[in-house]
Amino acid sequence: MGIDALSKNDPSSFANTEDVVVRHAHVSWLVDFKKQTLAGSVTLTLEKVNDLADKVVLDTKDLTIKKVYLSGNPLDFVKGPTVSTFGESLTVQLPANTAKKFDLVIEYETSSKAYALQWLSPEQTSGKTHPYMFSQCQSIHCRTIMPCQDTPFVKFTYTAEVDAEADMTVLLSAVSSGDPQVIPGTSLRRHKYEQKVTIPSYLLAIVVAKLAHRTISPRINIWCEEENVDAATWEFSQAEEQLSFAEEICGTYEWGRYDLLILPPSFGYGGMENPCVTFVTPTCVVGDRTQADVIAHEISHSWTGNSVGIKTFEHFWLNEGWTMFVQRKIEAKLFGEKHRHFSAILGLNELRNTVRDSKHPEIETTLVKDLIGIDPEDVFNTVPYEKGHTLLFYLETLLGGNDAFDPFVKAYCQHFKGQPIDTDMFKSFLYEFFASKKAVLDSVDWQAWFFGLGMPPVIPEYDTTLSEECTKLADRWLNCPEEEVESLSSGPSFKDLSPLQQREFLDQLGLREQVISVNKLRKLDEWYNLKSVRNTEVKFRWLRLCIRAKWEDKIGEAIDFATIQGRMKFVRPLYRSMYAWPAARDRAVEAFKKHRDEYMYITARQVALDLHLDS
Ligand code: BES
Ligand code: ZN
Repeated sequence: MGIDALSKNDPSSFANTEDVVVRHAHVSWLVDFKKQTLAGSVTLTLEKVNDLADKVVLDTKDLTIKKVYLSGNPLDFVKGPTVSTFGESLTVQLPANTAKKFDLVIEYETSSKAYALQWLSPEQTSGKTHPYMFSQCQSIHCRTIMPCQDTPFVKFTYTAEVDAEADMTVLLSAVSSGDPQVIPGTSLRRHKYEQKVTIPSYLLAIVVAKLAHRTISPRINIWCEEENVDAATWEFSQAEEQLSFAEEICGTYEWGRYDLLILPPSFGYGGMENPCVTFVTPTCVVGDRTQADVIAHEISHSWTGNSVGIKTFEHFWLNEGWTMFVQRKIEAKLFGEKHRHFSAILGLNELRNTVRDSKHPEIETTLVKDLIGIDPEDVFNTVPYEKGHTLLFYLETLLGGNDAFDPFVKAYCQHFKGQPIDTDMFKSFLYEFFASKKAVLDSVDWQAWFFGLGMPPVIPEYDTTLSEECTKLADRWLNCPEEEVESLSSGPSFKDLSPLQQREFLDQLGLREQVISVNKLRKLDEWYNLKSVRNTEVKFRWLRLCIRAKWEDKIGEAIDFATIQGRMKFVRPLYRSMYAWPAARDRAVEAFKKHRDEYMYITARQVALDLHLDS
């Protein structure tokens, strides 16, 4: 059995969603930090969408399935063989008289190797006294924590009962149904949660840890270990304002709460839009509020992604491209239209880096993908984000600017609310909404946008007010003859730039054909004390540039940065460029092997692939 066992509706899942779909899930878990497992059951409320349905095929990976019940009666089940990274199917034959809607109860236990979970020892936390566990289900890891239809094609509501040690906080991607209750005769408390809005499996999320919180608005708490909660609260204090702006752009916020959880440094993403509780990397907490765009981004997903969904990860750009677009609309409301354009310019830089370094452009650089036999994470990069954003910005310009396009954004969120969609549905609705501008829309080269390789077919003319200074400074540094380097110490300088402009300046030094000399980098380092930069986005670009310019003294710093935190956006490009440079390769591989267990499984797998290690 190979990839042909996979679903008709989604190449990343085994589920027979053409026959049955999950409407509701109830999970009941005991969190066991000693065994590093979740044990208990899930009750799936299923509905036949095909009257002839005679079986249920679910996704699982590394789960121990103990019993399956239908109306109290045990049923036989069969687990399929492991199919590449997709895990194992779980097939349950249904008795002939099974009703249209029925509950399957599955008793099971997770493995301590569950991809979606990271279990941290007390030493790996700031507090050093309690262990910590958090999940990351996107893209296809929910199947490692429960048997499910692990595809965004299906949306369901859920309830949860989670038992954990009494001094731990438990948060889920749902709304709490009241204070946790002590379970008599044990050291445990039971936490109940309910998600009344339908979600795809990848938005199921849990954290169990010793957490503190601060309230910044009636619907927003900032959750974090006590040691860092005040710094995090300061960094993200604009969250309520951002959320209100998002409502102006997209419509009413339907999820009730919007909490933020700041995770330990090993969290692999900048942010994750888990409903009711966004997960955020602590690498954003640097004391200058310049990474609040991550929050604007995750807030935006409340509409684009979490409400308007996708049928499969082949249309992931509808999640991320749209979310970049709404995120930058929020940025425009906060800091002005020029800032929105500047943010888009910075995004294009990342796209240029991705396209330039791509090894498999035919799958890595198209907007819409064919993911048959491919793990969505293996082709994850900035293309869906920035090519997707570029398309929407281009459409906005073409169709008459903000005034014409803003009503479309709102209508799109409303029209597809709660639905998983694909690229064609987006395009049809666009044509429907702008029926009077059909000729304009027909001038768009859709084939090139959706399926073309490399950079977007059209790059909008962004306002360069905020980037101009950076371009001038980059030109000055690049064009200065080596023997006149000292002259760069006077005149406009790096320290006059805002942190965002510093990013742009460093990007430009790395994107030109001419690579900046180590001699000049040494001066930058010396004069502007780049060793002690706190802003992680600036630091990342600085170290990436140093490695690209083959400055050997900086290998150690790059390795330190790639091992004290695990945000993939920073870690992977650094490892990749160290791997590509013989002088750094062995040290990078050695460092990765030493720190492998501190990364999330997801991160470790990707970096192992980047370093060509057997994963
Ligand atoms: N949903 C993504 C993170 C993700 C994508 C997790 C694919 C797993 C698989 C999240 O919304 C995201 O895009 N995060 C960005 C934030 C940035 C664009 C502001 C990140 O992590 O860098
Ligand atoms: Zn996103």
